[in-house]
Amino acid sequence: MFKFNKSIFLSVCLLALFSAKSVSASEVEVLHWWTSGGEAKAVAMLMQEFSDNGGVWTDMPVAGGGGDAAMTALRARALAGNPPAAVQLKGPAIQEWYEEGMLADISSVAQSEKWDDLLPKVIAEHMKCEGKYCAAPVNVHRVDWLWANAQVLNNANIDMPTNWDEFNAAAEKLQSMGIVPLAHGGQAWQDATIFEVVALGIGGANFFRKAFVELDSQTLTSATMIAVFDQMRKIRGYVDPNFSGRDWNLATAMVINGEAAFQIMGDWAKGEFVAAGKVAGKDFLCAAAPGNGFLYNVDSFAMFSVKGSDKIAGQKLLAKLIVGENFQKNFNLTKGSIPVRVGMSLDDFDSCARQSANDMATASATNSLLPSYAHGMALRGAPAGAITDTVTAHFNSKMSSQDAVKALAKAVANSQ
Ligand code: BGC
Repeated sequence: MFKFNKSIFLSVCLLALFSAKSVSASEVEVLHWWTSGGEAKAVAMLMQEFSDNGGVWTDMPVAGGGGDAAMTALRARALAGNPPAAVQLKGPAIQEWYEEGMLADISSVAQSEKWDDLLPKVIAEHMKCEGKYCAAPVNVHRVDWLWANAQVLNNANIDMPTNWDEFNAAAEKLQSMGIVPLAHGGQAWQDATIFEVVALGIGGANFFRKAFVELDSQTLTSATMIAVFDQMRKIRGYVDPNFSGRDWNLATAMVINGEAAFQIMGDWAKGEFVAAGKVAGKDFLCAAAPGNGFLYNVDSFAMFSVKGSDKIAGQKLLAKLIVGENFQKNFNLTKGSIPVRVGMSLDDFDSCARQSANDMATASATNSLLPSYAHGMALRGAPAGAITDTVTAHFNSKMSSQDAVKALAKAVANSQ
């Protein structure tokens, strides 16, 4: 009896010791905004891979496309002195948090995993804080895409438009047939997404760079910018009356269901088509939105300074897995994006992903690979917010294009 009790006691002790060790070896709390159908499937893959590698994941999803609500949640946690260990953060916002003294250095992982050899230089730069890696890149999303329901276009005898005049003609034809031409959700970041796509399409790469990277006031008030707002006014006429406040994925669902013909949205929209079992080139069509260039939007996780060896080990494990080949393939197949890691085979990817990779290479060679302003890659928070406020004020009122460019230049000047 005594012997029996003793061995049970020993096993219980061993089990407790073992599980305590495995539970606390690597853990990470992750703040992200991937909550739509396609996004949730994609992030579930990351969670699975993290736990397959012995990590313990604490999920902190904050719903809201584009991440505005997630950023508000982050500020609250940071103010309370308790930021999550890993945060979905992008572009110059990474540097802004670094300047607040909040980010950790993950150069040791970058070095052992050879990130300098595996990442395109322009993207690696976004991940560095004063030359040291402080964030891990997940993917490359392209923003300037036009999505369509194949059957709806076919029934209306419409080809995928290749310039804005063709787009307008298609939209007017659809409207006369009683079909909603453009699925859109009236949220500021979605208005901004369409605006930057139209700006690239009408103005071209140099115009885009001068306006939204350099914030050149002459460009902001130019005749070309007036033409961009004119096209925005036309687009306002192509959305259905219930667009206000609609989430982006519900707009994508309108295209999936054939309630609307087109959506202008980054390729996270493809994640929704794929999650609904739809096939690229058959059920839905993708085409670069009219214009020459490529607006990139790279998701990444910044690591915040946290205490505890288990949390630091969790951050390192997460960073390592994110740039790993397995994750880069499986996650991006689901998310709609393409791998950020160079040299990956795209054999299992669809035609939209392959086009994205080809167009990105061409854009890079022709100086038309551009950071998305609407998705936080080009500008710091204040000027980006000022532009978006003006765009949305114009979209939701009868403001003239002339007044809009004046308001734009003024808002940008005040933000600096
Ligand atoms: C992010 C995507 C996300 C989308 C909609 C973008 O800013 O980069 O990963 O799917 O917002 O929430």
